[in-house]
Amino acid sequence: MSLTYNLTGIFFRLFNRQLTMEKGARIDPRAFVARGGTVHIGENSIVRAGTMLLPSSGRIHIGKRTSLNQYVVINGEGGVKIGDDVMIAAFTSIFAANHRSDRVDVPMRQQGMYSKGGIVIEDDVWIGTHCAILDGVTIGHGSIIAAGAVVNRDVPPFSIVGGVPGKVIGTRT
Ligand SMILES: CC(C)(COP(=O)(O)OP(=O)(O)OC[C@H]1O[C@@H](n2cnc3c(N)ncnc32)[C@H](O)[C@@H]1OP(=O)(O)O)[C@@H](O)C(=O)NCCC(=O)NCCS
Repeated sequence: MSLTYNLTGIFFRLFNRQLTMEKGARIDPRAFVARGGTVHIGENSIVRAGTMLLPSSGRIHIGKRTSLNQYVVINGEGGVKIGDDVMIAAFTSIFAANHRSDRVDVPMRQQGMYSKGGIVIEDDVWIGTHCAILDGVTIGHGSIIAAGAVVNRDVPPFSIVGGVPGKVIGTRT
């Protein structure tokens, strides 16, 4: 298995010079890394099957010992920085940009994108399955994001956040 992961890493980097991987970082052959911006995967982190890393013109930075489980989608247009020891469960989406919608005389798909400054997920965060993390948000270290949450505001360290929109429903301290 690890030979397959190693060969996949070499293959991905051959075709994408803007992908960098530290020692022990692994990508499942059924994952996808788009070209455009830059993607960095830290030491001993893992990107599992079906996950899509889409930097657009931005940057996706993944720290050390972090796991992105199946079918996670990350759009890095405004920049996405994920820390160390982060766990992201299957089917979670992280979108660091929005479509412009200021004008009503032009279709939104022709108005381009904007970012409020990207997304930061600090160290030791656990994000449950089917969450949406929206642009401009910082998730403080040690936090838990409950399954199905839509996070559109900053999350204080060691919080437990759940719901739509995400609210603090508990604390770990
Ligand atoms: C957040 C979580 C860890 C809390 O687990 P727990 O400590 O056992 O919490 P409980 O089930 O006792 O619920 C505590 C409270 O949080 C609420 N809550 C739990 N999960 C919630 C969710 N996903 N969204 C909103 N509220 C939630 C409960 O309704 C309860 O509220 P109440 O006290 O008003 O009744 C868990 O519910 C969760 O979402 N886990 C993620 C699972 C997952 O995605 N696993 C993938 C593995 S990689």
